[in-house]
Amino acid sequence: MGSGTAEQVVAAARAILDQHWRADLGYCAPNARVYPWQWLWDSCFHTVCFAALGDPRGRTELASALAAQRPSGFVPHMGYQADPSAAVELWGVLGRSTITQPPMFGHALRRLVTAGFPAEGLGPAVAAGLRYFFRRRLVPSGLVAIWHPWESGMDDSPRWRRWQPAPFDARAWAATKQDLLAALETADGEPVGSSRFAVASASFNALVAFNALEAAAVLDDPEIASAGRTLADRIDELLWDEGLGTWVDRDPTGAVTSTVRTLDGLLPVLVTGDADRRRRVLDAVVAPDGYGLRFGPAGVHPAEPDYEPTRYWAGGTWPQLTYLLWWAARQAGLAGHADRLAELLVAGACRSGFAEYWHPETGEGLGARPQTWSALTAVVCRLDPTAVDGWSDPASPGAGT
Ligand code: GLC
Repeated sequence: MGSGTAEQVVAAARAILDQHWRADLGYCAPNARVYPWQWLWDSCFHTVCFAALGDPRGRTELASALAAQRPSGFVPHMGYQADPSAAVELWGVLGRSTITQPPMFGHALRRLVTAGFPAEGLGPAVAAGLRYFFRRRLVPSGLVAIWHPWESGMDDSPRWRRWQPAPFDARAWAATKQDLLAALETADGEPVGSSRFAVASASFNALVAFNALEAAAVLDDPEIASAGRTLADRIDELLWDEGLGTWVDRDPTGAVTSTVRTLDGLLPVLVTGDADRRRRVLDAVVAPDGYGLRFGPAGVHPAEPDYEPTRYWAGGTWPQLTYLLWWAARQAGLAGHADRLAELLVAGACRSGFAEYWHPETGEGLGARPQTWSALTAVVCRLDPTAVDGWSDPASPGAGT
């Protein structure tokens, strides 16, 4: 696709969702070959896409993502409804995993309700899913901890360098991830801690706070709203690094575990109360000498030694992160920044063949292709069509950029 209109992009995104929809199970597999199971944050993003398309499958998908919720409120990050016995070897339980992922269900619920789909039935599960973090995951500083890199949704990120082999080696890291799984402490099929990995990650905390505020807005739940605001304040107080212009990660004792500048480390921009900080971060996200490369913001700041864009989670452009930063810019009323991110998201998705992630400089598709979360392009096209209409692929001859 060289250039096009918002409606052409919407049609392409809808076709990808249709291709991956499991009508029997009520969710989209992110990619039929590489990712046949259900993943929590992917399904929440699919819900956001369906909501923007006015498609009732969004409600079905959110319900299926929450279906394996435990009485504590814990929601597993993977569902193996297609073959429940396949879960047992890795997780020791039938049909699901024993860790979680960013709770994007607060935002998903709000998008559904805003699009006119009733929250009925889903509200209590979403509220319990968020309360779980405030009741079971808080460390003494008031931040939330994750207990495995998989919980972040970004398992190979250089933010976990303290646990990774140096130099990085994917095979050795895969073995370490297994060891970290063995280090998980579980009770009744749920995680309760880890002897080796506990991190108050900036991005995970930001997404808990953001989703709490999103859910509270539609559920009229003052307890969740207040927990979300308190967490947002803690993130700003404890994780912001003024010199680096990013939020950092800390372990439960308060020691910094990573200062590497990654794009997800900027997600607290969704909830920060500091307008100058918000502006500074979003400027960096779109700046060509910052993260803002030709086909989208790089997943790792290009000046970092770890920037290696073709490697998984080490610098590529991820559509769901670009979407979240677009959302932050929109929410902040920074229309120029939002329009730029919308254009970049569409240009990269189209150039890459709607890939799982892509090269921020060339648009080359990386990872699974196509991958359903690239359908988030439909959301920006539906909500801000003028930012996208008439866009042209900057890499095609004569595009003039
Ligand atoms: C990979 C990603 C994770 C995602 C899953 C399915 O494991 O790291 O974030 O949820 O694929 O797309």
